[in-house]
Amino acid sequence: MAKSTVSFVCQNCGAAYNRWQGKCESCGEWNTLAEEDTSGSVPVSIRSKRRGRTFALESLTGKSNDAPRLSSGMTELDRVTGGGFVRGSVLLVGGDPGIGKSTLLTQATSMLARAGHRAVYISGEEAVAQVRLRAERLGLADAPVQLAAETSVEDIVSTLSEGAVPRLIVIDSIQTMWTDTVESAPGTVTQVRASAQALIRFAKKSGAAIILVGHVTKDGQIAGPRVVEHMVDAVLSFEGEGSQHFRILRAMKNRFGPTDEIGVFEMTGLGLREVSNPSELFLSERDLGSPGTAVFAGIEGTRPVLVELQALVAPTTLGTPRRAVVGWDPSRLSMVLAVLEAHCGVKLSGYDVYLNVAGGLRIQEPAADLAAAAALVSSLVNAPLPTDAVYFGEISLSGAVRPVAQTSARLKEAAKLGFGRAVLPESARGEIGSDGGLALNSVGGLTSLVAEIA
Ligand code: TYD
Ligand code: MG
Repeated sequence: MAKSTVSFVCQNCGAAYNRWQGKCESCGEWNTLAEEDTSGSVPVSIRSKRRGRTFALESLTGKSNDAPRLSSGMTELDRVTGGGFVRGSVLLVGGDPGIGKSTLLTQATSMLARAGHRAVYISGEEAVAQVRLRAERLGLADAPVQLAAETSVEDIVSTLSEGAVPRLIVIDSIQTMWTDTVESAPGTVTQVRASAQALIRFAKKSGAAIILVGHVTKDGQIAGPRVVEHMVDAVLSFEGEGSQHFRILRAMKNRFGPTDEIGVFEMTGLGLREVSNPSELFLSERDLGSPGTAVFAGIEGTRPVLVELQALVAPTTLGTPRRAVVGWDPSRLSMVLAVLEAHCGVKLSGYDVYLNVAGGLRIQEPAADLAAAAALVSSLVNAPLPTDAVYFGEISLSGAVRPVAQTSARLKEAAKLGFGRAVLPESARGEIGSDGGLALNSVGGLTSLVAEIA
C-alpha cells in the first residue's frame, strides 16, 4: 500500500511529524508546523526497480585545470571564506532582513565581473530595475554582471547551463526559489530543501560557485535556512546591531577554510566598506574615563581585535537580581561573578549586572574573563580604569589568572593603537617575544586585580 506522503513539517528546523502539534519538539518553536506534501518526484515502485548505472572512478592525483579558488576582490570576504570561492562549492549567507546581504553580494559579483569573470545575480525578491538601482547607488552600474529576476530553479539551471560556465552565481534568496519536482508551496521547508538540492547538484556538475542568500526569520512563516545548512559547503552569517553601522561576517561552517575568522564591514551611504583594522572602529566611540569600561585585547581568527567591554552593576530591586549580557557567553559571566564573590569578597548578589561588548562584536574567547572582571569591579566601586590599559587573561574557578594564546600579537596591536600598558596573566611573561613598548602589569590571581581597582 502506498505510504501517506503528507506530513507536518516545522518551518523553522525542518523536523517532520505525522500529526499537527503546537510546539516543535525538535527546536522548541511554537506554531511553526505546516502541512506539506513530502513525496519525492519518483514513485517508490520505480525507484526500487531501477538498476544503478556504472560510472568511472577517478584517481585522487588527477589534475584540475582551473584555479581552485576565486578571489572575490574583497579582502574581508576572502578572509572568511578561507581565501576565495571554491569551484563547485555552495555557500549559504544568512542574516536578518535588511542587514545588507544583497548589498554585499552585489558588490562581490560586480568585482568579479569587472575582473573578467562571468558573474550572475539572480534575484527572486527584487525586480531587475531595483537591483540596478542598488548597483547605481554603489557606483557599480557599469560592472558586466548578468542579472535576472527569476524564481524557477529549472529555468535558472537551463539558462545557466548555456554558454561559458559562470564563475559565481548569487541566488537571492533561497526562500523565494521553487522547483516543480515537489508540490509544496514556495517558501516551505520542502521547497527550500529541494531547490537547494537542485542548485547544489548544478554547482557540483558545472563547477560554478553558488551563493545562496537565506533570511533568518523567527516568525516561522518563511522556512528557516537552517534546513539547508548541512547540505552546503559553508555557512556564513552576516550580523550587526540594527542601530549601528558595523557588520560582521562570520563563518559558522566551512568545509574549505577556518571558522574562527571574521570579516568586518561598515555600512555607508555608498555600500559596504571593508574595515581592515577593526580595533580602530570598535574603539572609535569610547567613553573615556567612565567607570565600568575595560578594553579587551582579543584575537578573532588570525587577527588581533581590541574591543571595549562595558559593565553596569547597580543595586537591584528584584528578588532575583538581573544578569544580562550582549556579545558574550552568559555562563562565563556567571562564572566570573561567582569567582569574584567566592575568592575576592566582592558581593554581587544584591546587584543587577549588565555586560555589553561594544560595536556588536560577539566574543567567544575565555581570554575576555579578565577584562570583564575589571569592568565589573570598576562599575561596582565606581572607579574608572586607566584609559591606556588593555586586559586579557582567562580566570579559573580557583581565582587564578591563566595564560592565553598569542600574547605577543595582542600586545603589538595594543601598542599600535596607542595603549601604554597591559594587564595580563603572570605566567604569560615567559612567552612574550616583544612587548611593543607596553608597561606590563601581570596578575597571578583575581584578588590582586580587585585590590588594585578598589
Ligand atoms: P540590503 O542589502 O537590501 O539587505 P538584505 O539583502 O540583507 O535584506 O540592505 C538594506 C539596507 O542597507 C537598507 O536599510 C539600506 C542600507 N543601505 C545603505 O545604507 N547603503 C547602501 O549603499 C545600500 C545599497 C543599502
Ligand atoms: Mg536582500
